[in-house]
Amino acid sequence: MKLIVTGGAGFIGSAFVRMLLSRSDAPSVTVLDKLTYAGNLENLEPVAKMPGFGFVRGDIADLDAVNQLVASVQPDAIVHFAAESHVDRSIESPGAFFDTNLRGTFTLLEAARRHKVPRFVHVSTDEVYGSIDEPHDADEEYPLHTSSPYSASKAGSDLLVKSYFHTFQVPALITRASNNYGPYQFPEKLIPLMISNALEGKELPIYGDGMQIRDWLYVDDHCRGIEAVLRKGREGEIYNIGGNCSLPNREVVDRIIAQTGASRDQIKYVKDRPGHDRRYALTTEKLMRETGWEPQMDFDRGLAETVNWYRNNRAWIDRVRSGEYQRFYDQNYAGRGVAS
Ligand code: NAD
Ligand code: TYD
Repeated sequence: MKLIVTGGAGFIGSAFVRMLLSRSDAPSVTVLDKLTYAGNLENLEPVAKMPGFGFVRGDIADLDAVNQLVASVQPDAIVHFAAESHVDRSIESPGAFFDTNLRGTFTLLEAARRHKVPRFVHVSTDEVYGSIDEPHDADEEYPLHTSSPYSASKAGSDLLVKSYFHTFQVPALITRASNNYGPYQFPEKLIPLMISNALEGKELPIYGDGMQIRDWLYVDDHCRGIEAVLRKGREGEIYNIGGNCSLPNREVVDRIIAQTGASRDQIKYVKDRPGHDRRYALTTEKLMRETGWEPQMDFDRGLAETVNWYRNNRAWIDRVRSGEYQRFYDQNYAGRGVAS
């Protein structure tokens, strides 16, 4: 099997590539990645010398480059992770979200259509369903209700994918996963930010009252779910992927404090995120029923593995945190002050 994996130098894409290439029957994998602030070739170092691995630096919104790559690789499938992925950044500067998540997805679909790529898996998010009141959970038919420029751009890309399936018969499938955590996650999202700040004795900035609820999915469980969809999913279908682990943010931070030995005094309640979704919740029954997939990682064990990884990879954190990230961090947190 020959795959093109977009965004394969990011958090989840690189975990997917490492998972596939660690096997004896590994497919050949060509990663297409622009190496934005979130893309890091170090994430692919464990597999960089494996036969069948290739890397191309490029923008998924560059139609000529994408067409050329697809024509030369002639993949059996494109697995599309590349995206601008962080809600706070989409509030600070939304433009890149539309360039990559919408135009980039459109460009890949055009290339898939033109070169008759046999399978296209579009990696999306449960954030497209928006905030959901208890006791409801979103299944794949749940209406789209987007709150942030990030979720709007992802929902838009999902609709584009569906349109290419219905109109041009591009054999596409969509996955919608809940919040991921695990090693190699850029320290801007809740769990890696809190772990790295906890380990360094820095403040732990909780937005608003910290009672927002997210479902937590270990990254390797997500990757196995995407592979299940790639191999067994039905074309034109959407598959939710959840970790069956709903927790309020405060509880997540408490568990990080317990595992890192940080002090509760490090917690700082800061001004809420604008448009903050209160609760995400999804059902994963369809994926389980149709493919036999289920999440395997218990949250406390997954968190322990993640904390260990961040403890042992301080140099990685220092490198990815330099430069552009520092500017974002200062801008995002400086003005927040203490929550009212
Ligand atoms: P990430 O931000 O860690 O990585 C994104 C990768 O895409 C980076 O390697 C970056 O360099 C690359 N990229 C960005 N713009 C590009 C462009 N124009 N051309 C080529 N490459 C480009 O993201 P992630 O957390 O690994 O998320 C991967 C996918 O999974 C995204 O589509 C995201 O929406 C989705 N998702 C993420 C989560 C989560 O909790 N992180 C949950 C559900 C779904
Ligand atoms: P995040 O990891 O950014 O993912 P998403 O917004 O896509 O769900 O945030 C997860 C939750 O944690 C969300 O409710 C916002 C909250 N949060 C904080 O309270 N403090 C922080 O510093 C960050 C980054 C997030």
